[in-house]
Order: sequence, then structure tokens, then C-alpha cells
Amino acid sequence: MSKENVKINFAGKSIVCRTDTSVGVALWEKGIRHISRSPKYGKPRGMSCARGHCTSCLMRVDGEPNVRTCETPVREGMVVEIQDAGAFYGPPMQKMLSIGGSLFPVGFYYKWFTKPAVLSRFFLDQIRPLTGVGRLPNASHAVAALPAGEEVEVLPSSELGNVGHLIIGAGPSGLMEALQADGPVTIIDDNQEPGGQRAAALEALHSTPGTNFDRFEILVAAHKRLTQLKEELADRPDINFRGGVRAIAGYQPSCVVMRDEFKLETASFDCMTWAAGALDSLGLFPGNDTPGVIGPRAAYRLLQRDGLNVQGQRVLVIGGGLDFWLTAALLESRGATVSLVMTETGYQSEVSAAVDRGWQLTTGLQLSNISSRGENALEATFAPGATTPGPAHSHLKIEAQFAVICGRGKPAYDIPYQLGLELTAQPQCGGYAPRGVQAPRFETNLKSGSSLLVCGEATGALPAQQVLDNKKATSS
Ligand code: FES
Repeated sequence: MSKENVKINFAGKSIVCRTDTSVGVALWEKGIRHISRSPKYGKPRGMSCARGHCTSCLMRVDGEPNVRTCETPVREGMVVEIQDAGAFYGPPMQKMLSIGGSLFPVGFYYKWFTKPAVLSRFFLDQIRPLTGVGRLPNASHAVAALPAGEEVEVLPSSELGNVGHLIIGAGPSGLMEALQADGPVTIIDDNQEPGGQRAAALEALHSTPGTNFDRFEILVAAHKRLTQLKEELADRPDINFRGGVRAIAGYQPSCVVMRDEFKLETASFDCMTWAAGALDSLGLFPGNDTPGVIGPRAAYRLLQRDGLNVQGQRVLVIGGGLDFWLTAALLESRGATVSLVMTETGYQSEVSAAVDRGWQLTTGLQLSNISSRGENALEATFAPGATTPGPAHSHLKIEAQFAVICGRGKPAYDIPYQLGLELTAQPQCGGYAPRGVQAPRFETNLKSGSSLLVCGEATGALPAQQVLDNKKATSS
């Protein structure tokens, strides 16, 4: 076995994988997508966000339950298992629940059977075991994860005090705010380098010889904008950029908890700029939880951070905007064959460049359904779009190894919400947002009196629109 390889054990089988990757990607590269089950119905789940933000990749690793395998590096001899989610009643009950799912809508147990109290207690005792993420196989297995004498590692923590103006997110919007701010600013981002979630992918396309994506105007404009911002940042010693730092919680009145690989930190602020962007949102369609269906941000991380090998694979890319073109270009540069279904109009130069490259590109259809075809492939079915005329457009089926859905992202508002910002469901913004939010900036005061500015994709603004606006501004 080469020095660059390690062996891990999955389902009783030994798997040889690269050392420089995560457990989730190691399994994915071996064609294993189904790595967990949904707690309620026991439905197959695979990696979804690839950033430790959901629960789709939770597995038992060396006996330790609930390990996020998308962020866990492989190690020689590691034993990886699927957890027995919902095992209290077992698969037959899960199947019954699945059949009668409409009788058990999300959160029904909070709303029904609350009175009388004695009946409520009985009901909750019955219903609670249906949830949860599994049972430990036995007690000795659980403690085996921590050898005798070894202590649980606790991250050291420190208190930074008031940092004045704190910007969370160093994507284009966060950088622009930092560059325009008066006085010193601290800006943090969970990526090591400034530039946001697309920066590494744009940089890779730009710097890989022979990729030649110059005809994709949106990619050129996005890369140019990013380069400009990073150059300006390098000339500003009063802006303290801290990479690899993630904001993980907000406590009222104005405290933020942050962490990096080595420590936890708490800080208060007078002014916070929330530029944390958006999370992948796959949209509503049958099969949106099929393992192998991911969003563009997950695709960037899997391809760039984890080096996912897609050589020779067919990948379906659906949607529109900057992420659609960036995902397709990145996949092609890594040796994948892309099938594109574009759900937006416009982008004439990109469409003709794609056709000239020989990409399979279809327009005027909408996604009806995605289903698994075995462990390592899926099939998507499309129907004519609502406004598509004529018989030339009919139903279409496309098979691919995996699919990337590039829709509108869902604004990431978790920490402002924890700090007291009131949110309401606003579909036009892509999810929950403060009432009256207006892209690309939104200013308000938190209950603590500290000011909060939300900007960029966190307001529901579309990244493609921001790039094009910027292109117009710089060329006028
Ligand atoms: S937490 Fe691992 S895929 Fe979301």
C-alpha cells in the first residue's frame, strides 16, 4: 500500500483511500453515497452541506456516535458504521410512518395532544423514541472510543473583549464593507483565505493552464471583482482579516462565540456586519433528499477542499446564475462530463461558449423528480416549463453519477437570530429574513442597541446580479 493511502473499515469491508481527504469523500469515491438514515422514516441520506452544518453525514466512527464525516479526516484502521437511526421501533414502523406520513406533519407532536396533561405525557413517551439519531450498540462499545487514562480534549477559550466593528464573512460583500468602513475592523471567515465560498473555485479555474473559460463573461467578471477586492485588502493594515475562524453562536446582548481549529473565543461588538452569505437550498421536488444531490457550495468544498475525484463521471448541473456556470466549469476542468439544464433565461455569451465546448445543454424544462439508480447513480426527470410552448419540448430523463442544483441560496441568519433579530418567512428572499429586508444592504439595531448591518447574499441578493452590477459600475 502506498504511503499516501490508508485503510478504513466500512460495513466489515476494508477500503483503501487517500490520506488527504474526509471519511465522507473517501466513501463517496468508492461509490458509497448512502451513509446515514433519516431519524423519522429511515430514508437514505448522503453528504449534503459538506461543511458540518447539517446532520446528513452523521456516522459512528470508532464507536463514537454522531460524527460529522464530511469534516473528519480518514485515519489508518478507522471503523466507520451507519447509525441505526429510529431503531426503537425499527424499519417496519418507519415504513408505516412513511405510508401514513401526511397524518404526522412536521412538529405535530408540539401541537396535538397537549391536553389533558396525563394523556400528553403518555403520548410524548410513545412518540419521542421515534425521533433521535440512533442507539448505541452497547455500553462497552461507547466507552471504547476513549482509551483508559485519556481525557476528553477541551478547547482552550479566551475573552477578546469589545472588538468594535466585527464583520462576519469575507466574501465580496464583507470585503466591500470592510474597505468602506471608518476605523479599524476585524473580519473573520471560516475559509483560510478571503474571498468567500466561490473564491477557491474561481482561482482554480483562472490559474489552471488550458482551461480557457474567457468566454464565460460571468466567471471572468466574478474573478476580476474578487482580485480587485483582495488587492485593496492587502493595502489596508487597519483591517484585521482572520481566516479559518467560524462564528458558532450569538448570545444576547452582543456576544459572539468564535472558534478555529485550536481555541474558542468570545467577543462583544458595537457594530456587527453580517455578510455570511447563503446556504445551499435545493428547492422542493420529489427526491431532493436523494444521496448524491447537492448544492453548489457543497460541490466547491468537495472539489476544492477535499479533491473529490470526478474524472470520467457524468454530472448533472441544474439551475442558473453564477453558481450554475462556475460549477459546470469547475467540474469540466476536473475531467467530468457535464449535462446542463438551465432554468433561467439570458447568459447568451455563456450559452454559446457552452455549446461550442460540446456541453449538453437544455433549456425550457423544469425538474420534476430525482431518484436513485443504485448506490452510485441517479436519474432526473424534467417536464416542459410552464411558459415553454410547442411540442419540441417534451419530458426528458438524464442519468448521472450525481447532481448539483444551483438555485437561490437560503440566507444564513442563525447568529443574528440568536442575537435577537426577528425573522419572518420571506420566499422572495430565499427563506427567513428580517421584515422589510432590502437587497443588497439592510441596517437595523439589535435589542442590545448594537447596530447590525446585513449585506450581500445574506439579504437574499443573487450573486450573479451583484457581479453584473459591479461589472457595470467598473466599466462606466
Ligand atoms: S454536516 Fe456533513 S454533510 Fe452536512
